[in-house]
Amino acid sequence: MKIRVLGSGAGGGFPQWNCNCHNCHRIRHNEMNGTARTQSSIAVSTDNRNWLLFNTSPDIRAQLEAFPAIQPKNGIRDTGIKAIMLIDSQIDHTTGMLMLREGKPLDVYCTEMVRQDLTSGFPLFNMLKDYCTVNHHPVPTDGGSFTIPGIDDLRFYTQALKSKAPPYSPHRYDPHDGDNIGVIIEQISTGKKAFYSPGLGEIEPHVMAAMQAVDCVMVDGTFWTDDEMAAQGISQKRAREIGHLPQSGEGGMIEVLNGIGKKRKILIHINNTNPILDDDSTERHTLTAAGIEVAYDGMEIDL
Ligand code: MLT
Ligand code: MN
Ligand code: ZN
Repeated sequence: MKIRVLGSGAGGGFPQWNCNCHNCHRIRHNEMNGTARTQSSIAVSTDNRNWLLFNTSPDIRAQLEAFPAIQPKNGIRDTGIKAIMLIDSQIDHTTGMLMLREGKPLDVYCTEMVRQDLTSGFPLFNMLKDYCTVNHHPVPTDGGSFTIPGIDDLRFYTQALKSKAPPYSPHRYDPHDGDNIGVIIEQISTGKKAFYSPGLGEIEPHVMAAMQAVDCVMVDGTFWTDDEMAAQGISQKRAREIGHLPQSGEGGMIEVLNGIGKKRKILIHINNTNPILDDDSTERHTLTAAGIEVAYDGMEIDL
């Protein structure tokens, strides 16, 4: 399978429009060794023509223009996007659906909880009824598997995990199974597997088992420290409080990734405040020494 990173940044992207933090300032002024990043999304295919899109970022238009393999090929209107899977209902993962309104009905795979958010607090599905329309396909929250018509040779296993529903959601402080999921993507013919979870707040036993079982993990790389935003005077919100396990420290993502054996380990959904965005930072060197990669826009993973 081929995995294309369409957007490797967290909500806001990098640089963020109104942010003058150490990273955003330096990337704008060419004072840092690193690259800008759009908001969180990947695409997966086994034939390089028919793609499953994971999440629809507000930056989707530029992401698709930067990726010829997903662009129109046949006829006057066409796309390589055959279906969409949403891992949660966060604004950075869903808003791009509005940008796809000119096309055919969207086949959207997501949990019942995400469907509820997207028909209430952020009623995208309702709005799109008068444009392309949305066909909702429910997905399991217990690790059950399914396939998607038009997406050949891939099988998906979806399981609820602990992160956070969006600030607008009725579930923000009242968690339900399915507010967020992790996905194992398996190529049926080869048995190769990837685990994708850009929002991951807690390593429950089933998450650990999933990470151990696959050939490649692409997991939450939002923050380096729990108090990263407070330390820079941006917000009092702590990483764990908003559903993101920080990388450093005891029980942090680096420690977790050290315990899952040898495989490709990739951090994705990187917040603009995170020092790992600087390729020359000591934090980035720490990751490299641990065999952990940092996703970038346009990165392609062949499994
Ligand atoms: C998150 O991942 O926590 C959210 O996308 C943040 C946001 O919506 O700004
Ligand atoms: Mn996000
Ligand atoms: Zn910033």
